[in-house]
Amino acid sequence: MNENKRQKRKEEHIELALQSEHALTSDFDELTFIHRSLPEAALQDIDLSTSIGPLAMEFPLYINAMTGGSTKSEAINAALAEAAKVAGIPMAVGSQHAGIRNAELANSYKIVRAINPNGLIFANVGADVPLEFARKAIDMLEADALQVHLNVPQELVMPEGERDFSGMLSKLEKLVSKLSVPLIVKETGFGMSLETIEQLKGIGIHYIDVGGRGGTNFVHIENERRSKKDFSYLKDWGHSTVISLLEAKSVSEGLTFMASGGIRNPLDAAKCLSLGANAAGIAGPFLKILHEFGTEGLIEELEEWKQHLQTIFLLLGVKSIHDLQNCPIVLGGKVKDWCEGRGID
Ligand code: FNR
Repeated sequence: MNENKRQKRKEEHIELALQSEHALTSDFDELTFIHRSLPEAALQDIDLSTSIGPLAMEFPLYINAMTGGSTKSEAINAALAEAAKVAGIPMAVGSQHAGIRNAELANSYKIVRAINPNGLIFANVGADVPLEFARKAIDMLEADALQVHLNVPQELVMPEGERDFSGMLSKLEKLVSKLSVPLIVKETGFGMSLETIEQLKGIGIHYIDVGGRGGTNFVHIENERRSKKDFSYLKDWGHSTVISLLEAKSVSEGLTFMASGGIRNPLDAAKCLSLGANAAGIAGPFLKILHEFGTEGLIEELEEWKQHLQTIFLLLGVKSIHDLQNCPIVLGGKVKDWCEGRGID
């Protein structure tokens, strides 16, 4: 595919993501926290700090991978980087393949590091890249971690997408031991099953972003780009973020989880933490805020999320992420049925 087509596709992704709406139902609504009338804590006691391996984070939130590789995306990355810097939260860039292939486009990613020299920044590539390519992506940003995205349903529905996914595990295995920064394997809104997580664990992956269904939907987005729009029946493919985190429970030892996909508000983020995630990532909803209210609006939104998370911790009588990860939560509806069907306690 030539560069113009690739840039056009990226811009279409942004336009379609801005137009798309959240699913009417969410598995987050099937989870209920237990209210504590006597929390025995003060707002100022609450510590939201967390970590992803060696990476210390003041807040358990990050702006997830979206863009880069076109003029429009450079402006978006600059605004996201400014907001991430002011809020003190990590940010991932979108897939860097365009910037690695074409040096002229590299600036649309590099700008993130230029704006935020001391912040945590995650590089982003596909799972089929050789070691040298991954290293270039990291070096381009002096990145603190590398996200490797999995997006098979998106590729298959994308008219010009990849059709051969053989050998991905062995390619990932070659990368994981040779990088100087944590490698985070990330789904892109289709979630992960126990089977997938076991495969990743088996090749030595330690950091996983389960990237579940329920928010930005790349089957829908790619289907909109097809002339016949013939894949609409596949729009609910995959597992929600809630189900993915529950699937992960029995194999979580030695793994660090991040949660993203369909997180609508701080309560959803807190539910992810209670199911074992160390941090919650948001992409589409923050892009919409940026589009509608600009950088200042996004900074305000991020501050609100941080404050509201503290409020929720206090409502639950927990003072840290560790406490929240051990806090009971009641499962209902389809989530409960899923756990029964899959034998998850
Ligand atoms: C994305 N996402 C994404 N992910 C990735 O790993 N590499 C990428 O290049 C992109 N590109 C991209 C573009 C746009 C416009 C959006 C909105 C999203 C996926 C993103 O990181 C996330 O996994 C999903 O969007 C699900 O999270 P939300 O949007 O429901 O919070």
